[in-house]
Amino acid sequence: MEIVSRVSQMQTIARRAVCGEQKIGLVPTMGALHEGHLSLTRRARQMSDLVVVSIFVNPLQFGPQEDYQRYPRNLAQDAELLSKEQVDYLFAPSQDEVYPEGFGTYVAVEKLSERLCGVSRPGHFRGVTTVVCKLLNITDPAFAFFGQKDAQQAIILRKMVRDLNLPVEVVICPTVREEDGLALSSRNRYLDPKQRRAATVLYCSLQEAERMVREGETRTKNILQRMAEILGEEPLVRLDYSAIVNADELEPLDKIEGKALVAVAAYVGPARLIDNVIVEPNAPSMVHR
Ligand code: PAJ
Repeated sequence: MEIVSRVSQMQTIARRAVCGEQKIGLVPTMGALHEGHLSLTRRARQMSDLVVVSIFVNPLQFGPQEDYQRYPRNLAQDAELLSKEQVDYLFAPSQDEVYPEGFGTYVAVEKLSERLCGVSRPGHFRGVTTVVCKLLNITDPAFAFFGQKDAQQAIILRKMVRDLNLPVEVVICPTVREEDGLALSSRNRYLDPKQRRAATVLYCSLQEAERMVREGETRTKNILQRMAEILGEEPLVRLDYSAIVNADELEPLDKIEGKALVAVAAYVGPARLIDNVIVEPNAPSMVHR
């Protein structure tokens, strides 16, 4: 695996590969890699001739009170993990390389970016879409891989690609979880053991939502109320939101008729955690474990 830190070098490598009819698979990350990230690189390995993983802690997607400064960074350890996964290139640019002085062009997917996580994280998704658009332009992939764990992000990026006719296929991969159901996240390492135990309540509430839908409940009010009860039992967890929305427009639903996204976000100690499941009336469980 080769580590590339310059945009121009990464672009040259990508252009050459594309000229040689190679299909590039890009896995954008912010590092502090875990099995969730690695599941994306494995999928990329299956589908692409050349796998590029990017590691860039993107300042543009962090709010002023958020964890940009203390976000975990360990490039050497990440590089070692990736080299074992037959990744071809690790693209790890500096902040100046991605946002040189005078940078002032942004990509924003309207409406979707203001919903759910967008309410408590204004500007977050504009930061995500801007950096991902740049990464796509730099690495020229045929496929770009994202996790269902960040469902809103995946939906927004898919819309960006469609709206801007970007020549890339967005591939969404299932959420990887710990044994007890907690979705893997780089931010889980902020949790002390008590908070770590408390954090499992997010997925418990989502499983309860799945169970209710499976047993015929379609009124979202009842499901959200039950989820709030479960989440409310855990004093270390402060709910940001729980919502049941349609999976395209992220609009709140009164009644679940087709596929719906059940999403939660909560503060647990210093971490803001998110999780979601997709439910569908009269459909087998969609949980990936
Ligand atoms: P990061 O949080 O590092 O996540 C990188 C990718 O890994 C995202 O597509 C995310 O959805 C996926 N991922 C994280 N946890 C996962 C899990 N438990 N199971 C499956 N996939 C998981 O998301 C970002 O970085 C950034 O916003 C980025 C897209 C890189 C733009 O800066």
